[in-house]
Amino acid sequence: MKTILITGAGSGLGKELALLFSKQGFHLLLAGRTVEKLTEVKQAIEDSSGKADILSLDIRNNQDISNKLQEIRQRYDLFGLVNNAGIGHFGPFEKMTERQISDMVETNVLGTIRMTQAILPVLQKKGNGQIINIISTAGLRGKVNEAVYVASKFAVRGFTESLQKEYEGSGIQFKAVYMGGMDTPFWDESTHVSDKSRFRTPNEVAEIIIHQLDQSEIIIESKNS
Ligand SMILES: NC(=O)c1ccc[n+]([C@@H]2O[C@H](COP(=O)([O-])OP(=O)(O)OC[C@H]3O[C@@H](n4cnc5c(N)ncnc54)[C@H](OP(=O)(O)O)[C@@H]3O)[C@@H](O)[C@H]2O)c1
Repeated sequence: MKTILITGAGSGLGKELALLFSKQGFHLLLAGRTVEKLTEVKQAIEDSSGKADILSLDIRNNQDISNKLQEIRQRYDLFGLVNNAGIGHFGPFEKMTERQISDMVETNVLGTIRMTQAILPVLQKKGNGQIINIISTAGLRGKVNEAVYVASKFAVRGFTESLQKEYEGSGIQFKAVYMGGMDTPFWDESTHVSDKSRFRTPNEVAEIIIHQLDQSEIIIESKNS
């Protein structure tokens, strides 16, 4: 059974993608920091006769990635990676704390880069595979009170576009996904968005992504932007 590893699979978009990929017959490796959330997703997959395992992982921690991915590379038939885990801190740029800035860069940018580097050798050996980078419309254009988040997402865009060129013809596909607002826990500790219920559901966005996976770039604009 081919395995797809999804970071941030315990909630929001990552969870919905995990459920849909499971229905397509993939084994899921559900990665994130909160094991309780991942356990619930694993249970939901198994209740629908799918297969999933949990990977407790903080993608800001390079040592944690190296140690755990070494074992995973041997144990599973890795086919795909979804770099979905991401965080956002919003507000006037001058008020961003050093901690907020480094957390966004370490999670959104370095986490994505390190996870990709940890998995690429396996895919390269096999000559096929798929890496899906969940970006945001914040990776397409600047936005007020989102400067550092936008910077982190532009970085992932540049990273993805470069690897698309570098690995052309290798059999490994890189997908860049740019979506507008989604109604997920992402906004729970923020006042930046007043009513997240007007956004698309993560399930709706996950369905669109799965249907457009033959494309290297998927853009899903907000319904009400
Ligand atoms: N919601 C939106 O409006 C929106 C719009 C465009 C793009 N996006 C992007 O979509 C992606 C998914 O976000 P979402 O909306 O589904 O939000 P979410 O429900 O908050 O999901 C993010 C997941 O990432 C995990 N995570 C955060 N930091 C992590 C770390 N250091 N290591 C491992 N896992 C970590 C979180 O779980 P733990 O805290 O348990 O680790 C959480 O399950 C993000 O990249 C986000 O930037 C969101």
